[in-house]
Amino acid sequence: MLLSLLRPFFAAFHSWLEPKLFLFFGPAKDELLKPLKNLDSPHNTLQVLEIGIGNGANFQYYPPNFRITALDVNDHFEKYLKENVKKYEITLEKLVFCKAEDMKEIADDSMDIVVSTLLLCCVEDPYRVIKEIKRVLKSDGKWIFLEHGRFRGKMFHNLIQWLLNPLTYIIGAGCRLTRKIDFMIESVHFSSVDIKYREIAKYGFTLPIFPHYYGIAVK
Ligand SMILES: C[S@@+](CC[C@H](N)C(=O)[O-])C[C@H]1O[C@@H](n2cnc3c(N)ncnc32)[C@H](O)[C@@H]1O
Repeated sequence: MLLSLLRPFFAAFHSWLEPKLFLFFGPAKDELLKPLKNLDSPHNTLQVLEIGIGNGANFQYYPPNFRITALDVNDHFEKYLKENVKKYEITLEKLVFCKAEDMKEIADDSMDIVVSTLLLCCVEDPYRVIKEIKRVLKSDGKWIFLEHGRFRGKMFHNLIQWLLNPLTYIIGAGCRLTRKIDFMIESVHFSSVDIKYREIAKYGFTLPIFPHYYGIAVK
């Protein structure tokens, strides 16, 4: 309820914060999303769904043959998103505002690619979201994801994450730092899953936030 009331604030705040978050997630985003430009072919358009699209942070990676359906729960992002649609000359087929847990407007087996970045930390039911992603993908469709979650095998860092959770929940629109992203993705049985794990280190010290999981799952 409180989070819903704060949606105009979250849309403005995240649109301001997003370039700064790139300092943490940029290397993984580049590794994961830059190869999308190689999928460009004027004769082969691809149906792409980006979930939790926010202000369109990933548009810089999309080639002209992508036909994009953008989905987010927060309709206050629309004005920031449309600015980036114009800036990056994106072909936006459809803009849907609904929860990713129940994407009624997206047909079964309709998408070549689903993209999500920094989504699963803040949805209410990540398992339902992952099942929905699998439902909307075509038979050989790919889900490309980059999500932050729980540290692997670092008890002190896990403790700090638990302590910070209430703060990130309030200022990050329901963001939890401690989700077991790899476990969640693997439990939904895609035909193949490739997950990489990265921590952020500065001066030889692992920062106690934002270890991330990124990769590709094929339906
Ligand atoms: C941390 S932001 C990430 C935005 C963008 N993907 C990026 O990488 O900068 C999380 C986004 O997911 C959206 N979101 C949160 N819960 C959602 C849900 N249940 N269904 C769809 N979108 C949701 C938020 O409104 C927000 O745009």
